[in-house]
Amino acid sequence: MSEQPRTVTLIDEATGKRVELPVVQGTMGPPSIDISGLYRATGYFAYDPGFLSTAACRSQITYIDGEQGVLLYRGYPIEQLAERSTFLEVAYLLLYGELPTAAELADFSRIITHHTMINENLKEFFRGFYHDAHPMAIMVGVVGSLSAFYHDSTDIHDPRHREIAAHRLIAKMPTIAAAAYKHSVGEPIVYPRNDLSYAANFLQMMFAVPTERYEVDPVAERALDLLLILHADHEQNASTATVRQAGSSGADPFACVAAGIASLWGPAHGGAAEAVVRMLEEIGTVDNIPRYIARAKDKSDPFRLMGFGHRVYKNYDPRAKIIRKTCMDLLESVGQQSDPLFELALRLEEIALQDEYFLERRLYPNVDFYSGIIYRALGIPVQMFTVMFAVARTVGWVAHWMEMMADPAHKIGRPRQVYTGAGRRDYVPVELRKPAGHGPRATNGERR
Ligand code: SDX
Repeated sequence: MSEQPRTVTLIDEATGKRVELPVVQGTMGPPSIDISGLYRATGYFAYDPGFLSTAACRSQITYIDGEQGVLLYRGYPIEQLAERSTFLEVAYLLLYGELPTAAELADFSRIITHHTMINENLKEFFRGFYHDAHPMAIMVGVVGSLSAFYHDSTDIHDPRHREIAAHRLIAKMPTIAAAAYKHSVGEPIVYPRNDLSYAANFLQMMFAVPTERYEVDPVAERALDLLLILHADHEQNASTATVRQAGSSGADPFACVAAGIASLWGPAHGGAAEAVVRMLEEIGTVDNIPRYIARAKDKSDPFRLMGFGHRVYKNYDPRAKIIRKTCMDLLESVGQQSDPLFELALRLEEIALQDEYFLERRLYPNVDFYSGIIYRALGIPVQMFTVMFAVARTVGWVAHWMEMMADPAHKIGRPRQVYTGAGRRDYVPVELRKPAGHGPRATNGERR
């Protein structure tokens, strides 16, 4: 006999009214109460700012167990993919749901490789930015503009168009990222090369100059490919949820990914990678660590330990474990005895994880805590760290966008609210109004 669908019963203490709500159970993870009919059945909204207890969708792409520190891409443990896979193979897995055969991977790599160039007119965009523009600001602008160039693949109801747009985004992100960097250092933009791997191509677009041959360091290529794998997807994080939300209205994929880049930039999310290094530089020495730990614990101080804590992981972020080990291997292999910031980060972690405040809140290093150490060893400047995150996460963003768009039942995301503003009131003629002191702050000549 098929299992009876489970339900939970909600009782309104005020009226004694009972309502049964269905329970949704996935392959793994906690059961969810389907509250989509709650308002219709009870007149109540559910209230969950920050979505601490809300599953926004069904997905088959990535599974996280925050208690156990587990991360699976399409069921495969991140530790195994990190050790044995490549970024393009992981991209195929996230997009299509299965590991490719050798022939399938070769075909996919060829497709991506042949989309790495950007329209020549796009290069003019970079010249319009100040040289000191943050590269994430450039990424938001240039990626958003791709819909102006590739409108032959923006019929979002056509699965083939969706796939082409996904391939174009995965392929062009490194080219745009490297061009943003070249603009900031006043060097000519470097074209992609079809004879190189995804990671190697990025490194040569970043560091090659017309005056000499550029040889890709295989150790750097492997370290970068590993970081790309580790950052590729992470279920419904803020930027992926942003891409889904933008896509739910039918916006084109390039605009959706631009929205994801904007969300990722925040220091509470992908911007933490840059913020960690700036924090370590500010801390400077091991002697200063206790003072910064005290600040992180002080509720009156906005300072937080960047790279620490996570909404889902209440255990060590499995990606941080892998990156931490890779730091040690990489620094050794590139002949750097060590990076003083890496030493400082190790001590900071050690001291924080002996402190009750962090232990009782289960705050551990997350993916951003050590990633900057590797980027520094690769010669990537700190303001490019979140751009690296965006390059990798584009695979997750487009995989989730494709999954949502392929679901005929998907609806526009339109949350409700708890209204706490003024009650209904009538218009007041200007001559009867009194100054309320709510107007704009006095300006002090900000740059126009
Ligand atoms: C990423 O979602 C994802 O999957 C994201 C990501 C991905 O791959 O997409 O994993 C990538 O964004 C990693 C997170 C990078 N951000 C940082 O490293 C910034 C520092 N971390 C914090 O801002 C914070 O931990 C968040 C934003 C990551 C999580 O915040 P939550 O889940 O909303 O937790 P919270 O703010 O409610 O904190 C719970 C408690 C609070 O103290 P109490 O009110 O209980 O006393 O822990 C404290 C917080 O003050 N706390 C910290 C802290 N993080 C949380 N205190 C000091 N330093 C910190 N870093």
